[in-house]
Amino acid sequence: MIRAHLTIDPHFEVGPINRRLFGSFVEHLGRCVYDGIYEPGHEHADADGFRTDVIELVRELGVSTIRYPGGNFVSGYRWEDGVGPREDRPRRLDLAWHSTETNEIGLDEFATWLTKVDSELMYAVNLGTRGVLEALDVLEYANIRSGTELSDQRVANGHPEPHGIRMWCLGNEMDGPWQLGHSTAQEYAQLASKTARAMRQIDPDLELVVCGSSSAQMPTFGEWERVVLEETYDNVDFISCHAYYEPKGDDYGSFLASAVNMDRFIDAVVATADHVKAMRNTDKTIDISFDEWNVWYQSRYDQVDKITDVDAWPVAPRILEDSYSVLDAVVFGNLMISLIRHADRVTSASLAQLVNVIAPIMTEPGGPAWRQTTFFPFSLTSRLARPVALELKLDSPTYVTERYGEVSLVDAVATHDHESGGTTVFAVNRSLTDAATLTIDSRALGAVTTVSATSIFDDDIHAANTLEHPDRVAPKENDSVDVSEGAVSVTLPPCSWTVLTID
Ligand code: AHR
Repeated sequence: MIRAHLTIDPHFEVGPINRRLFGSFVEHLGRCVYDGIYEPGHEHADADGFRTDVIELVRELGVSTIRYPGGNFVSGYRWEDGVGPREDRPRRLDLAWHSTETNEIGLDEFATWLTKVDSELMYAVNLGTRGVLEALDVLEYANIRSGTELSDQRVANGHPEPHGIRMWCLGNEMDGPWQLGHSTAQEYAQLASKTARAMRQIDPDLELVVCGSSSAQMPTFGEWERVVLEETYDNVDFISCHAYYEPKGDDYGSFLASAVNMDRFIDAVVATADHVKAMRNTDKTIDISFDEWNVWYQSRYDQVDKITDVDAWPVAPRILEDSYSVLDAVVFGNLMISLIRHADRVTSASLAQLVNVIAPIMTEPGGPAWRQTTFFPFSLTSRLARPVALELKLDSPTYVTERYGEVSLVDAVATHDHESGGTTVFAVNRSLTDAATLTIDSRALGAVTTVSATSIFDDDIHAANTLEHPDRVAPKENDSVDVSEGAVSVTLPPCSWTVLTID
């Protein structure tokens, strides 16, 4: 039995948890939009063609902000293709995903859908093949009440109220050679800086996200952030991070420690941002928008033959439809622990993506929608996290991984509500073979009246929810909780994720 020990004191805070940490991402990619959130003709479609069963699941998931419309897609996108009468909208080649974009859904429809799922829109502008003018145009169309050509167009298109978009991403993954319009850090920094300044001439209070690195493994990582922030520091609020994880072969030990890589990634970007802050002798702090993160079996997608015949690029193909296991859900839950641990600097994050494409929610055209295993750590964390992330002292035995060296077997984060006095702890046991006892020194929390725990684990770590077996994996009540004088303990099964609420 592994024994880990946690000391919590609500006086020691990391900082408030911004609800934007529980954001997601909808890209025009595969079946995320078409046959995902939108399927007119489906028995559960509403008058706008949106699937109400998907809307219910998105609400249950508890997502705050949703990034849109890409992703790699945005670097070839013309926003104006997606507004106005549907019959006039062009079909276009989507160079990023070798697909055909019908433009049936665009900014206005997506904004309407967001009111149904009760989420905030975070909009990405195209800085790959477009620039300052097009960013200003979409801002005018979306946010100006009326009285200008583009705002009047929106009104005429049936949207009298402005969309009021606060968060804007200045392009997507511009450091990646795969990106349309990929550029050097200097080139991108100048374009992002010009675009940010121009957008702020319309509205100085916009919250702007400049592109950081596509992963911590990029050859330009670190230097990219320095160059981009030196140029844009005064005009932006966030720098983005993106990270995807998958096991290499059967090295599950390293895979289970993916959050260690996320921790180091965040710490390095914070250090770089603060280095630029020091050089500029300013009080302004740049936060992180971790606007793409997930488990993604990217190597499987890389092995698939891409459709090269441009006359045959399909509409909404089944691509990037990873099926997630219990093992994946544990890694995923641990990534959320890492984000919360850095709540003082990661003030926005987007799970990539939301429906069908590397997603917690799957749908079948004309058929049902169901929850993948990763749905559960997200929904439970979003629902049960208290408003403040706490610093904690965690003592855990360790193991050695191929990719990240020596790491702890148990990882955890605690969140607290100063008003109610309640605390929620999220924990993982990374051991594939042994259960762990987590003992929490709760003396600083005062009298404990109620404790409950829910865990995700299974005898088969590869178990998944599928169309045929949509409820194969679900969270289980963990009845191992024990409360004694000044201590709470819980058993974490091998390869498991657990949420523990203490009131
Ligand atoms: O989420 C899938 C893709 O991953 C996004 O389009 C891109 O930004 C990233 O490389």
